[in-house]
Amino acid sequence: QPLNKRFPEGFLWGGATAANQLEGGYNEGGKGLSTADVITAGTHTTPRKITPVLEQGMNYPSHEAIDFYRHYKEDIRLFAEMGFKVFRMSMAWSRIFPNGDDAQPNEAGLKFYDDVFAELKKYNIEPLVTISHYEAPFHLAQKYNGWSDRRVADFYVNYCEVIFNRYKDVVKYWLTFNEINILTMPFGSFMAGAILPDGNTEFGHTAGAAEDEALRYQALHHQFLASARAVKLGHSIHPDFKIGCMIAYMCSYPLTCNPEDIILAQQKDNLTNFLCSDVQVRGAYPGFAKRYFADKGIEIAMGEQDEQILQEGRVDFYTCSYYSSTCVSADPEQEKIGGNLSMGLKNPYLKASAWEWQIDPKGLRWSLNNIYNRYQIPMMVVENGLGAVDTVEEDGTINDDYRIDYLRGHIAEMKEAVADGVELIGYTPWGCIDLVSAGTGEMKKRYGFIYVDKDNDGQGTLARSRKKSFGWYKQVIESNGEEL
Ligand code: BG6
Repeated sequence: QPLNKRFPEGFLWGGATAANQLEGGYNEGGKGLSTADVITAGTHTTPRKITPVLEQGMNYPSHEAIDFYRHYKEDIRLFAEMGFKVFRMSMAWSRIFPNGDDAQPNEAGLKFYDDVFAELKKYNIEPLVTISHYEAPFHLAQKYNGWSDRRVADFYVNYCEVIFNRYKDVVKYWLTFNEINILTMPFGSFMAGAILPDGNTEFGHTAGAAEDEALRYQALHHQFLASARAVKLGHSIHPDFKIGCMIAYMCSYPLTCNPEDIILAQQKDNLTNFLCSDVQVRGAYPGFAKRYFADKGIEIAMGEQDEQILQEGRVDFYTCSYYSSTCVSADPEQEKIGGNLSMGLKNPYLKASAWEWQIDPKGLRWSLNNIYNRYQIPMMVVENGLGAVDTVEEDGTINDDYRIDYLRGHIAEMKEAVADGVELIGYTPWGCIDLVSAGTGEMKKRYGFIYVDKDNDGQGTLARSRKKSFGWYKQVIESNGEEL
């Protein structure tokens, strides 16, 4: 029989966003300050800064972002026009619990998401909700030093209980933490763990608490517990809930066939990519993690029930982001390349984006196979895309052929992965509408099919317009990935 190289019927095509990069309205409707709200704008070459007290005259990009808070109807209408089946969004925890440890949720915050979900429902767009995407109520950072404190898991589960009950009839797909594995890295300390930096507050800088690897793994353990408890709780609230993990999948090739490089690449794959998903998908720490902790003298404080909690809270599906690939080498002399989430070595066979992220569609096929071989559960690619500078022509058009090329290449390789047997159920490219960059805080690093008139200094009308890729993606969805 000829191989049916097609995306399955009912494939979930859509786009992805996150509250702090999209919503704005940072202090409206009773919302509390979040960790994302205290990070200033930066550029590719100037790092963002964390300012525990908001400073006058500083540009904090999350405060207005692209003002989805007021524009959500218009934006969802545009997603519907492209034919979205699914919309990945996150909820701002501090909209629901302004301080994180409040006794009662904030009704105005809950109401905002009622309205957003109702709007999606109008167009039969399935929400895919990230419960925590690089933000937590800032009060939890200040009072508890974020996820380093086990009590924060209780606050998170409480937040989950409120949103699961409130939205159980309108949301089926949930992700517990965005890119949970970023907390294994020093720069993820504040962004993913709400752990306060002491001393140097340059975003992404390894300083103070950020240097404390044991603290980060302890915080990560608390997130694993929180995630597992949320999965169990979610299933008890609604048996149809599908609750997934989300990993920043960093594809790393050995630079040469030197066995030293091969082992190093495997170790990196294990530690950066698979440690977290092994815990979340299989329900237990893998042996290589235990070895790593022993080698580094890291002792994770565990409660008596923790192993059982992890085992009972295994996720229903696996999701990841995939942007680029890098190489690793056992030879320390190799030149480093930049890029906020894609540190590694240059691959002479690949080109890179303006932000030096290497473009590698085949790496996506390789990665999907690599992951599926391990878990054999349904998968979604919930972030992928090209951050690029767009030019608005005099007639208002935006001809982003480079973005179309990038996405076309990646979708074609996803189709290959499906033919390889990978159970891929959805695809939500990142920043389907232009939004604030997480790494640099810029607006000019754009990913969208929809252009938003706003610049790096926060100036612009916020008007939305369709890029060339908008019509292209519409046709991709209409043809279920046949017309690329
Ligand atoms: C992912 C994050 O790591 O990459 C997103 O989940 C982020 O929040 C995306 O925006 C792209 O990174 P950047 O730095 O280009 O915004």
